[in-house]
Amino acid sequence: MSAPPTKQGLILDRVVLLGRTLDEYRRYFALDLDRWRGRAVLDVASGVSSFCCEANAAGLNVTACDPIYDRTPEILRPRCEADLDLVVKGVRGLSTYCWSFYETPERLRTFRERAYRTFLEDFGQNRSRYVTGQLPALPFADGAFDLSLVSYLLFAYEEQFDYEFHRRAVLELMRVTRGELRMYPVVSFEAKRSPYIAQFGNDPSLTHLRFEVVETDFEFLRHSNYFLRVTRRNA
Ligand SMILES: C[S@@+](CC[C@H](N)C(=O)[O-])C[C@H]1O[C@@H](n2cnc3c(N)ncnc32)[C@H](O)[C@@H]1O
Repeated sequence: MSAPPTKQGLILDRVVLLGRTLDEYRRYFALDLDRWRGRAVLDVASGVSSFCCEANAAGLNVTACDPIYDRTPEILRPRCEADLDLVVKGVRGLSTYCWSFYETPERLRTFRERAYRTFLEDFGQNRSRYVTGQLPALPFADGAFDLSLVSYLLFAYEEQFDYEFHRRAVLELMRVTRGELRMYPVVSFEAKRSPYIAQFGNDPSLTHLRFEVVETDFEFLRHSNYFLRVTRRNA
């Protein structure tokens, strides 16, 4: 009898507390900051990312939303440190990552540390920017945001969230978004394109939405040089 196939990528049995910076978000989503200045931007599953802090400092109007925002910085800090250790050890030597941008696991760690430390400070000082909530039900009014972003929750965690969760998440994100939704990456941690993207295009409950996979020039997890843009067909 042949052995079951083994996983090729980073193996995570839960969603980790890992944060990216504004610079990384700009690359992930090919974000033109000038275009979104003065518009309402939502970052869902924002976690310990410093995007909200840094983007607000750069003149954007960003609201962050994550289930962890009902905890204190003192509770979150040791979890950030432990999850960062787990991931930096986990990605070392994996063929599913290319290192042209970060160069080494140590440099990757400095990006992530900067993100969570910046977040923790801002979270302590500007709590009103950080709203506790989770997909697939968000605590915002219909059409409250011009642009919504989701980084490293949907598609990546294929073991944790099934197709129905993704379908409901997209409908909910588009309920609170009057403009466009961008989700990154479009691959799992095995660096494989999520089958849910093709399923979205054939789902009768999503026919009012247009799905477009947009190529970018940033790749760390292999094949992550794309994001998914969602807009309304009648827009
Ligand atoms: C890997 S982190 C990504 C953080 C940030 N978006 C970034 O790219 O740096 C994933 C985040 O998703 C959050 N999360 C887990 N389940 C969620 C849900 N159902 N809805 C929204 N966020 C969720 C976690 O609390 C965690 O902060």
